Amino acid sequence: MTDLVSASGDIAAARSEVIVVGVLAGEESPVIPDSAAGVDDAFGGRLAQMLASLGNTGSASSLTRLPAPEGLEAELVFAVGLGEADELDDEVLRRAAGTAVRSAFGQESVAIAFEGDPAATAVGAILGAYKFEGYKTDGGDEPPAQVSVYGATEEAVVRASVLAEGVALTKTWVNTPANLLRPPTFAIEIEQAATEAGLEVEILDAEALSAGGYGGILAVGGGSAAEPRLLRLSYRPEGASKHVALVGKGITFDSGGISIKPVAGMWDMKTDMAGAAAVVGATVAAAKLGLNVNVTCLVGLAENMLSGSAYRPSDVITARNGKTIEILNTDAEGRLVLADGLSRAAEDEPDAIYDVATLTGGQLVALGRRTFGLMGTDSETERVARVAESVGESGWPMPFPEDIVALMDSPIADVSQCGTGNKRDGHMLQGGVFLSKFVPEEIPWAHLDIAGPADTSEAWGHTRKGATGVPVRTLVALLEEFV
Ligand code: BES
Ligand code: MN
Ligand code: ZN
Repeated sequence: MTDLVSASGDIAAARSEVIVVGVLAGEESPVIPDSAAGVDDAFGGRLAQMLASLGNTGSASSLTRLPAPEGLEAELVFAVGLGEADELDDEVLRRAAGTAVRSAFGQESVAIAFEGDPAATAVGAILGAYKFEGYKTDGGDEPPAQVSVYGATEEAVVRASVLAEGVALTKTWVNTPANLLRPPTFAIEIEQAATEAGLEVEILDAEALSAGGYGGILAVGGGSAAEPRLLRLSYRPEGASKHVALVGKGITFDSGGISIKPVAGMWDMKTDMAGAAAVVGATVAAAKLGLNVNVTCLVGLAENMLSGSAYRPSDVITARNGKTIEILNTDAEGRLVLADGLSRAAEDEPDAIYDVATLTGGQLVALGRRTFGLMGTDSETERVARVAESVGESGWPMPFPEDIVALMDSPIADVSQCGTGNKRDGHMLQGGVFLSKFVPEEIPWAHLDIAGPADTSEAWGHTRKGATGVPVRTLVALLEEFV
C-alpha cells in the first residue's frame, strides 16, 4: 500500500528517490513553471533545453527521466508534460501524476510538484500506485511506498486515499480470475469489505431468493454448481435525508450459458461482475468519507454456465416485481439479474436509482472503450454525464427510440428479454428499454452500460492494463450531489 502524504515548500529540497516536476508545452522547448523553478536551478537553468534535446516539448503526459544533478537529494528527476497552459485542467493533472507514479514502480519514494490544483494531482498519483499482485512467483516491481504531493492539504490527501481504496477494491475483484471469485466467495469478500466500512449487510442465498421470488437471478445462476446470491448493503448515516440506491451486475463468469459464446475473448468474461464491484467500491468509499446520504447497494451475483439445470431459450420466468419475461438468448443474462435488483431497489422508494453493468457488446460498438452508455430518466442521464466529466470519466446519454421500445414486446410474456427475433438493432438501447420495465416511472433512474470502460488492454494516464475501476469515482461524486 502506498502512503500518500502532503508536502510544502520547494520540491528541490525533497528527500525522495524520484522528484517529479510538470512542464508546460512550448514551441521548440517546454516552458518551466514556477513549481519547477528550484529544480531547474539545480540543472543550472538548462532543464528546458535538455528536455527539448530529448524530444520533450511538454505535451500532456509525455515523460522524460533524468539523472538528478548534484545539489538535489533525489536520484532521478521525472519531467512530465502538462500540455498547453490554457488547457491545464484537473484531468490533465490526474493523468500526468498517474503516468509519473506508474513509471516510478520499483522506486521507494516519489515527490510531485505540479501547477494547478494539488487535490487533482493527489488523486491521479494515488490511482497510479495501484498494482494487481497476480499469481506470478516473481511479482515484478512494487509501487513506491510513499508519494508526496506538494501543496496538497491534509484533507485532500485523505480524500484521495479513500477514493483510491474504493477504486482499488473494485479493480482487484474485476482482475481476479473466475475460479477464485464465484458467487458465494464474492459474497463473503463483499461482506468483509462492507462490514469493515460499517455497513449493514444482508445476504440472500438460493433458498431465500426462491422464497423472495427473484426469478431472474435464480434462472441465470441455475446452471452453475456455485449458488447465486443477492447482497443488500445499507449505509445509514445519522441525519441524512436523501436516499440513493445503487444496483450492480455481478456475473462472476459469463460463458453465455446454453447460447454459448465463441472461444475468442471468452476469458475476458471474468470481468462481467465489474458493475457489482463498482457499486460496492463506491458505497464503501462513501461510508469511509462519511457522506451524509443514505445509500442502499444491491448486487446480484451469479455464474452463467451450461449444465442440465441451466435455463434455456424459450423459458418464461417471473422477476421479483411479478413481471414475466420470455427468454430468447441465455447470453443476455445481465439484464435478468438487474431486473430483480432494480425491483428490490424500488421497494425502498429511494430518491434515485443508478445501475451499473457490463451489459452489451453494443455499448463498445456505439461508444468505444472509454465512454459508457447512459439510459434512463433525462434528468439523471444528464446528471451522470456531467458528474462523470468532472472526475475524468466519460458517459453519454442515449435515447429510447419507439422502434426499439416496440422490439421488446413479447407475444407470450409481459416483456421480451431480447429484441423480437433476436434482432441486434440498437443493441445497447434494447438493454436499457428492458431494464426500464423494472423501475417505477416516478423514481429518477440511470443505467450505466460499462461493457467497454470496465477494463483496458493498454495502460494510459493513471490506469494500468486490466480493470479501470470505472465508474467508482463518478458514483461517489453522484452521491455527493445528494448530501
Ligand atoms: N457480458 C456481456 C456483454 C459484454 C460484451 C461485456 C463484451 C463486455 C465486453 C453480456 O452478457 C452479453 O453477452 N451481451 C450480449 C447480449 C445479446 C445476447 C442480447 C451481447 O452484447 O452480445
Ligand atoms: Mn452474456
Ligand atoms: Zn454478461
